[in-house]
Amino acid sequence: MRLNPFSRVYLTDPAGVWRRILDDPGGAHYAEDLDLWLISRHAHVRRALADAATFANALTLVPVYEVCPAALSVIMQIDAPPTTAAADPPTHPRTRRALRATFANTAERVEAEYGAIVRRRVEQLVSRLAARQGEQVDLVPDFATELPLLVVLDILGVPDADIGRIRSWADGQIALIWGQPDPAEQVRLAQGLLEFWHYCEELVRRRVDSGQQGDDFISRALTYRDDDDSVLTVPEVASLAFNLLVAGHETTAGLLAHALDQALSDPRRWSAIAADPGLVPAFVAETLRFAPAIDGWLRVTTRDVTVGAVTIPAGARCLLLIGAANRDPAAFQDPDRFDPHRPDVGNHLSFGHGPHFCIGAGLARLEAGIAISRLAQTIPGLRLSPEQHRSYKPNVAFRAHRRLLATIDIPASSDEPVARGGATAEVRAG
Ligand code: HEM
Repeated sequence: MRLNPFSRVYLTDPAGVWRRILDDPGGAHYAEDLDLWLISRHAHVRRALADAATFANALTLVPVYEVCPAALSVIMQIDAPPTTAAADPPTHPRTRRALRATFANTAERVEAEYGAIVRRRVEQLVSRLAARQGEQVDLVPDFATELPLLVVLDILGVPDADIGRIRSWADGQIALIWGQPDPAEQVRLAQGLLEFWHYCEELVRRRVDSGQQGDDFISRALTYRDDDDSVLTVPEVASLAFNLLVAGHETTAGLLAHALDQALSDPRRWSAIAADPGLVPAFVAETLRFAPAIDGWLRVTTRDVTVGAVTIPAGARCLLLIGAANRDPAAFQDPDRFDPHRPDVGNHLSFGHGPHFCIGAGLARLEAGIAISRLAQTIPGLRLSPEQHRSYKPNVAFRAHRRLLATIDIPASSDEPVARGGATAEVRAG
């Protein structure tokens, strides 16, 4: 089986490639050129995500290609202890407990603890866009990537003055691990990541030295630690901050861009959302299923394991194709149809499953919900530019738009009632 995640076809029409893999009997396939085992069916991906004893996380953040020696020597200096996506038992259950205690991860806690931050940042960005009426904007840098970054920095208590530096570092890890950088780019990205890690260490060290306590994540984690290394070490607090800054940014940016792309692809959908914000949660859930921001995730086997009709050997890296699992006809009826009203809309695997289930899922849903409804209400005349050529950044795991061009038009109020009625029906029908 061949899979070239950097090919033009995969970067423009991944669903066609997933269909071919799903249709192939066997259940799991070895992709020689990637040296990865592909697992695509919903039941298999779900089981692998849940079974941390067989499908471990140790290599999840190790680059998928052979890193050049110069970049490798920089990467080796990043001594962040594994705490989240790269941690296995016995560390992971302990660090996960710490994360659950200090980072809001249920809908109620997220609303209570982060709702005000998200609304303030959404208002700031939406009004900045609204002021550009008549102009063409790129919704990726002007909105989708900016909002999650500002929100996660507020949550972590990072000073505003540092935003510029963090913006330039934040995407580095994703391109370095799952992208296709040439050697010079590998070195540049690795150096950025090392600086970013030192920055997180320094951020935490300063907080420890000053003894200042606030309501931000770092303060909460230090209070939770209570000077007890068996609970959490200071480098582990820095590592959690480092992971949250990366994990909370590009992922939600991807979700926002995919949701805006879907919502704006037909002006009637956009009008329906503007008229009825109650449609938004199901719309976001279906976007997560249909166009996941992370469509592949890595695990490594700890023993020989049978998946479908195939035995995967111990020590094999597996690419769990979340995007394919979300289009598996055995799990979803008419899977290639975008339908926010399907009864099992939340049954996707886009936030993972089991012990590593995304801790930021509640925050991502809240951000996307508030952002899409406010944007639709404030700028009902937002339209995708007709000369749109969709393309995604080359990446094995993250599917992120390069750009999403749109124009900000003054709404034509005369046709509004017709558009609203028809649009609501259309969104309801998917
Ligand atoms: C649309 C947005 C997001 C998507 C699609 C997403 C997706 C994922 C996925 C697929 C995993 C792996 C789950 C598994 O292995 O079972 C994960 C883990 C994680 N996510 Fe997210 N994520 C999103 C937003 C966020 C946000 C906003 C944060 C925090 C600010 C966050 C923090 C994390 C962390 C810390 C982990 C590791 C959890 C662990 O290993 O215990 N994510 N996410």
